[in-house]
Amino acid sequence: MFLELDELGPRYLQLARALKQAILDGRCAATTRLPATRVLARELALSRNTVLAAYEQLAAEGFIEGRVGSGCYVAAFAATKVVRATAQPSRTPRTRKAALARRGRRALELFDQSIHGRQHRGLRYNLQYGLPMTNPQLASAWRRELNHAAAHAEMDYPDPQGLIALRHQVCDYLARRRGIVAAPEDVLIVSGTQQAFALAADVLLDEGDRVLLEDPHYRGARQVFQTQGAHVFGCRVDGDGLVTAALPRGKATRLAVVTPSHQFPTGAVLSLPRRMHLLDWAQRSGCWLIEDDYDGEFRYDARPLAALKSLDRADCVIYIGTFSKVLFPSLRLGYMVLPPGLRQAFVAAKWLTDRGCPAIEQAALARLIASGAFERHLRQAAKNLKTRRAALLTALKRHAGDAVEVADSSAGMHILAWLPRMSHAQSQRMVERARSRGLGLYLVAPYCLKPLPRPGLLLGYADLPPADLQAAMRVFGECLREVER
Ligand SMILES: Cc1ncc(COP(=O)(O)O)c(C=O)c1O
Repeated sequence: MFLELDELGPRYLQLARALKQAILDGRCAATTRLPATRVLARELALSRNTVLAAYEQLAAEGFIEGRVGSGCYVAAFAATKVVRATAQPSRTPRTRKAALARRGRRALELFDQSIHGRQHRGLRYNLQYGLPMTNPQLASAWRRELNHAAAHAEMDYPDPQGLIALRHQVCDYLARRRGIVAAPEDVLIVSGTQQAFALAADVLLDEGDRVLLEDPHYRGARQVFQTQGAHVFGCRVDGDGLVTAALPRGKATRLAVVTPSHQFPTGAVLSLPRRMHLLDWAQRSGCWLIEDDYDGEFRYDARPLAALKSLDRADCVIYIGTFSKVLFPSLRLGYMVLPPGLRQAFVAAKWLTDRGCPAIEQAALARLIASGAFERHLRQAAKNLKTRRAALLTALKRHAGDAVEVADSSAGMHILAWLPRMSHAQSQRMVERARSRGLGLYLVAPYCLKPLPRPGLLLGYADLPPADLQAAMRVFGECLREVER
């Protein structure tokens, strides 16, 4: 009998797998007597004990019958129709398209687009938005806290709402830095903003429900709500953020996602009158507002503005914060501050989804914040980002002049650079040309529902020191001139 062992794991399991395969594909027919263990051991140059152990395994799983050591037979089930059918080589290739549910199909469609940016790894200068800023002091503080948390970890399932120590720290932080008064029971720890959107979709949306997004907006939000089957529509933004005068009247809007501290991606800060108008609109129309406060912490011309949630007297704001920007995105931790009427449903949805975020990382993060290392990092990060932003803007002006218009913003980790003299086709060529020269540039178009009148680029600067930003802008200017010519 020809048996090929696959070299994975213990020898007796390799042999058991090979024999199982021979039985399933009919080479070892039902009721056939298997070779004596001594004979097979000699044939395959294995010890007899290995063969005995393999036979015992097959007997335990029901593939063979009889007494191991004194005559074993392939079990009668191997003659059944089902086994013969599985033994036939499949006519359909293994890569055939699986029949997916509607949500699966939508997720797959969107996934192709969202991984697009990842192909740009390995560039000399990558201005991809969302890359974190590295800070060696933070890295060593994090290692220390992680070690401590691992050594003292509880092994039971965590509280699905989040570790109480971390929820306390989040509340202190929100009161100190974002003007939000919340109690630990209002907070739900999630694995990043993305999960917060997904939970909101699960808890609040039925197929066809209307969801308002700023236009342009963060793609991650749109992808979740579209996958859920919501009717997603846009509302204009200008230099003061969301144009609240254009908010819809009449048809009920179930949910609106806003970025008041730093509109994504234009960078506008929502003015106070518009904040009040938005809250009033939400209250009167029964719409939930999701405040995505992804980088409100980083403001360079003034102190960070208090969050919209701090003005919410009618409990219509679902606040989302993330550690992706203020620490690093691979951490996958964020939090929600929930209105009392939604709290239980969100905790239940989180519990159903994953039983809670990993406890060790939560404990380490709580300690990192309590130790003061987190705020030290925030101060350092804000200082570095401000320098990088200034270096980028100066170099952009120098190498691109008035071929580029920067959307006014002095916050965050990216700028939006409009290309008023270019067509969309030219901007695409510019991205390709830059890429061939080791510079990663990213268009703003995928962040919009309505086509833009002019092309623009999102320039993320957190990841590059000033000298690299200057060098990157030199290449930028050269590519720009080549395309314009
Ligand atoms: C507008 C906006 N919200 C949220 C996030 C963060 O998402 P997460 O917390 O899932 O990493 C980002 C990151 O790029 C963002 O741009």
